[in-house]
Amino acid sequence: DSNKKFAGKTVLITAGPTYEAIDPVRFIGNHSSGKMGFSLAEEAANRGAKVILISGPSSEKTNHQDIEVHRVTSAKEMFAKVFEYYENADIAIASAAVADYAPKEIAQEKIKKNDDSLTIELVKNPDILKTMGERKTKQFLVGFALETQNEEENAKGKLHKKNLDMIILNSLRDEGAGFKGRTNKIKIITESSLTEFPLKSKEEVARDILNFVEDQMLK
Ligand code: C5P
Repeated sequence: DSNKKFAGKTVLITAGPTYEAIDPVRFIGNHSSGKMGFSLAEEAANRGAKVILISGPSSEKTNHQDIEVHRVTSAKEMFAKVFEYYENADIAIASAAVADYAPKEIAQEKIKKNDDSLTIELVKNPDILKTMGERKTKQFLVGFALETQNEEENAKGKLHKKNLDMIILNSLRDEGAGFKGRTNKIKIITESSLTEFPLKSKEEVARDILNFVEDQMLK
């Protein structure tokens, strides 16, 4: 089937938020739904790829037989799972909204409310995508960026810093875009190009992204 452009390829995708435990009942998280990553996984599998989807807590599901879903909770768990599979991946897409920081210590018991203020010390999580860039051999590497200022400049900076082949800029300023909803508005940035797309459903955005990856890989 000539439409199966990703036949024989393995695509690794990270999706969703991560939850960083504070104590047995609380965590630090974010509003990422996982929808963008699951849509990318479906689209890549429809194009013939074998997909390894590593997702943080998300209510999204898939029944596609060519998508292997691995569910994780924290950034550190996501990191460990990603590097079980990264070496074999031909394409890796980091759409997860990974928490930048995690509590330094996880309290063994539920933290009681005593004082008027409570301080929780946070330490930086490992940067999964940056590490993928450092360990890149054959992988075509795609990252996401969500910026509130100097967006194009910052995204281009991340393309270099993380050794990416392309980066997808989500605009927070555009109505309906962002990581919580069902639609997204993106710009795709490579070393030599910037392409802007209109507001679309995340399924359509997934198609645009994988069309772009296809074109880039054939170059
Ligand atoms: O540096 P920043 O968090 O803005 O980069 C966003 C990109 O890096 C996204 O593709 C995200 O999935 C990835 N990332 C990651 N691990 C982190 C932080 C971000 O893979 N700890």
